[in-house]
Amino acid sequence: MSQEPRERWSGRTGFVLAAIGSAVGLGNMWRFSYLTAEYGGAAFVLLYIAFTILIGIPILLAELAIGRGAARSPISALDHFGGGAWKAGGIWFVASGFLILSYYSVIAGWTLRYTLNALIGGFEPDTGAHFDAVSQGTGAVVGHLVFMGATSLIVSRGIKAGIERTSLVLMPLLFALVCGLAIYAYTLEGGREGYAFYLETDFSKILDAQVFSTAAGQAFFSLSLGMGAMMTYASYVSPQQHLPNESLVIGGADFVIAFVAGLVVFPLIFALGLSADVSESTLGALFITLPKAFAMMGLAGQAVGFLFFAALVIGALTSAISLLEVVVASAIDTLGWSRLRSTLVFGGAIALLGIPPALNINILDWMDKLAGQLFLVAGGLLLAIFVGWVMKDPFSEVRKGAEHVAWFPLWRFLLRYPIPLVLAVVLYFSVRKLFFD
Ligand code: TRP
Repeated sequence: MSQEPRERWSGRTGFVLAAIGSAVGLGNMWRFSYLTAEYGGAAFVLLYIAFTILIGIPILLAELAIGRGAARSPISALDHFGGGAWKAGGIWFVASGFLILSYYSVIAGWTLRYTLNALIGGFEPDTGAHFDAVSQGTGAVVGHLVFMGATSLIVSRGIKAGIERTSLVLMPLLFALVCGLAIYAYTLEGGREGYAFYLETDFSKILDAQVFSTAAGQAFFSLSLGMGAMMTYASYVSPQQHLPNESLVIGGADFVIAFVAGLVVFPLIFALGLSADVSESTLGALFITLPKAFAMMGLAGQAVGFLFFAALVIGALTSAISLLEVVVASAIDTLGWSRLRSTLVFGGAIALLGIPPALNINILDWMDKLAGQLFLVAGGLLLAIFVGWVMKDPFSEVRKGAEHVAWFPLWRFLLRYPIPLVLAVVLYFSVRKLFFD
């Protein structure tokens, strides 16, 4: 077992900002806006809100309750409340962390490159060719390694001096950047059509199974759920904190940033007449179309583009540290290693695992699908069953620091019946699509 005493956040703000930092990332800034455009505008947004409230927040609270209650990293925490067999679940979480961080860091490396390029020379007009050059090969490997180095450095410094301090500085900056960019986008002539495209409602699409499971997967990804990241952060939370309220604040902030990021992306694209380019690829809008808009805007575009990609780097970094912390905290708790050794060994291993997706974008695409559609959904199902049925008295855990909360009974009910049912259906469709199509 670990020799060092367990660290704590210095207070409420530290934890909440770090958790929002985990949630807000690449998932909000490109995945959400792209999916919204692709799957029916406001109809998708409504479905996503429903999933966030009815599945995301209950699972988030479940993770917080397990984490704080056990005050251990996921493998030991599931063991603590459920018995030795549940360790396998914790190992599944750690494996998910490995998988996600290794390709997430590659995408983050691209955003790093774009930010530097904006600073140095602005955006090249042929953004498609530029994206091909940046996204695969040696350059991508270097970007990924630099990003993993920064992530490991922060995590190696621990909870207060590393993760908390980073979030305290970077999260307010990120909020300011995204809001400032949205206001700027509002002033652009011709941007109005962008809003219309973003929010144009097509309710017929809500009923589609594909849209349904995409919205569920996005709710998980965006809230960092299903692999013990929030659980690990909660293991450093004090018993006085009001977990149900924190889950609402984290969920709300994550949604707002995703929504506002859409208010940046679409008006920009439409104001510059690039709407036809909102391409089929998930990566298109962000890494190809948007830089084209920046390139067309000259010096202003260089500045705005720099700020936009800097915001992405910040979001990615505060998310990546939460992914690495799951793996590192597990190594500290179960192997008894020091934080430094755990970070070096496992940060290094993840850096290696990220080399194939940095060399080949098809591998990256496949890893993203595997993680988002299989690992996280299965992890969420496991969590719902665990807190709904296995854990003896989850109420006593969430009630610490929060006596009377009207939605407690609803919370347990959702975890017991509707959530496992919905997630099992989503999982069935995902597995079928991933392996048998
Ligand atoms: N939520 C982050 C995003 O939206 C990504 C992320 C961080 C994540 N930690 C996670 C996703 C844990 C799933 C699980 O970009």
